[in-house]
Amino acid sequence: MTLSPEQEKAVETACEVLERGGLVAFPTETVYGLGADADNERAVGRVFEAKKRPTWHPLIVHLPDADSLSWWASSVPKEAVVLAEKFWPGPLTMVLPRARRCGPWVTGGQSSVGLRCPSHPLGHALFKAFSGPAHRGVVGPSANSFGRISPTTPQHVLDDLGLRPSGKVDYILDGGPCTVGVESTIINLSGSEPELLRYGAITREMLQEALGRPVVNPRAGSPRVSGQLKSHYAPRTPLTLVEAEKLPEAAAALNPQSCAVMAPRQILDRCPGNVVFRLEAPEDEPAYAARLYSSLHLLDASGATHILVAKPPTGSIWAAVNDRLARAGAPRGQK
Ligand code: TXA
Ligand code: MG
Repeated sequence: MTLSPEQEKAVETACEVLERGGLVAFPTETVYGLGADADNERAVGRVFEAKKRPTWHPLIVHLPDADSLSWWASSVPKEAVVLAEKFWPGPLTMVLPRARRCGPWVTGGQSSVGLRCPSHPLGHALFKAFSGPAHRGVVGPSANSFGRISPTTPQHVLDDLGLRPSGKVDYILDGGPCTVGVESTIINLSGSEPELLRYGAITREMLQEALGRPVVNPRAGSPRVSGQLKSHYAPRTPLTLVEAEKLPEAAAALNPQSCAVMAPRQILDRCPGNVVFRLEAPEDEPAYAARLYSSLHLLDASGATHILVAKPPTGSIWAAVNDRLARAGAPRGQK
């Protein structure tokens, strides 16, 4: 995709902000990221401060292409090359042994680093422009306060972190709503077996097919992933997942006037007429995932004191959506 002159100008501005150690919220196909120059310890420190994220949680480094892998990883296994060829640019993060260049301020002191090359044209243009001959990278956790709902629109970033001087972000690169909507799949390739650290749009089956071997669940002692905390991606309002068939009854049993619901159309039709807020859940997974965080933001802002969500279908392609909903609904403070 070719960028408009305005978009090119915006990328240039974002690049300058990164160069002087500022924070840029950037679009990816998954969610908006909060970017800083990965080589700049102070700038990366500001990312942790802005998110109120514990500093031992490692960050992903965003790169423009697979050629940059060897600048950020001390060794690039064949499997990483295979996956990059197949899925980059796209919603896949690979954890590899970190190169010397990659400071402990990025990795939370771990010996591995998460590397990702997003496909969003504006985000991609930014990583390309910033990379330059030194193959610089952009750290980018999701651009939300730690533990809260991830942002999939520029407005979400404005509402949560805000722009300087009153807020925390120096510049927002506006790339419209994110199309995938849930964070990238994370695969750990730094150990003896490939491990699936986080569910995303690239499923375990897709990875296994590309690699021709099993991709296992993380073992004790595997790298830490903040998205693995039980309570994460959480709205402020308590959220309960309910079997779709039982949702109308559950809404009636709570005070419907304090309840916001999200369910397929036929279930919504059976809910009490006086629920505060109702949202139709898409039936196909890509649409559900694309709208998931926007829906959670809307349900949270509805004034309800309780959110009820109909459990989506199970099965591999729904794994990322079910994972995020389970964490959004987990009792708070669960690690
Ligand atoms: O889709 C995405 O991945 C988005 C966009 C902005 O790229 N980014 C994102 O970043 O979700 P964040 O920081 O919210 O989640 C990154 C996850 C964290 O759970 C972190 O623990 C894990 O990646 N991670 C990063 N480096 C790691 C490493 N060396 N070992 C294990 N996990 C790592
Ligand atoms: Mg996050």
